[in-house]
Amino acid sequence: MANRTVPRVLAFWFVLALAVTLAWPKEAIRMTGAELYANYCASCHGPKGEGDGPDKAKSKRPPSDLTRMAERNGGKFSRERVVAVLSDPEAYVVTGMPSGRFFFSGLGDSPVKQKMIYRRLADFIETLQKPAEPPPPPASPGKDEGSPPRRP
Ligand code: HEC
Repeated sequence: MANRTVPRVLAFWFVLALAVTLAWPKEAIRMTGAELYANYCASCHGPKGEGDGPDKAKSKRPPSDLTRMAERNGGKFSRERVVAVLSDPEAYVVTGMPSGRFFFSGLGDSPVKQKMIYRRLADFIETLQKPAEPPPPPASPGKDEGSPPRRP
């Protein structure tokens, strides 16, 4: 009896471990940018990227408002900037963002797949960009258009 149970238990764990190893990376690599964002980023950067996620207090600094990246860069959105931040191990240490290696460690150490994921995230963040705030309207010249001219 025991002779049979042991290999079965081992086989069970082996299959489970294999399933987890195979399932997790595929899961991340199959996600769209929006799904990746919702799963790994929205907790800090907020559902719409405004820097207002529920975990914002967990990072050392307030999470950036990702909707204003283009505005902060003179109106031009830089996908390269997103990829560079996510590829930079130091950025994780400085900001308190959970390390990309931890996030996507299931992808093995495939830099190609990691870049794909980072680019998808960059494309998604681009869709969150808000137009620059319009300048305040010029002071009205004082012409009263509200009331019709009075008749004598
Ligand atoms: C634990 C909270 C946390 C999570 C989760 C998180 N971030 Fe961040 N993120 C931050 C903080 C904090 C900063 C930077 C603040 C600073 O540098 O002053 C930041 C900065 C950034 C920047 C730089 C913005 C700029 O204008 O330079 C990008 C891009 C970014 N995060 C993308 C992401 C993406 C994509 C994810 C998901 C894969 C993510 N972050 C997950 C907290 C987080």
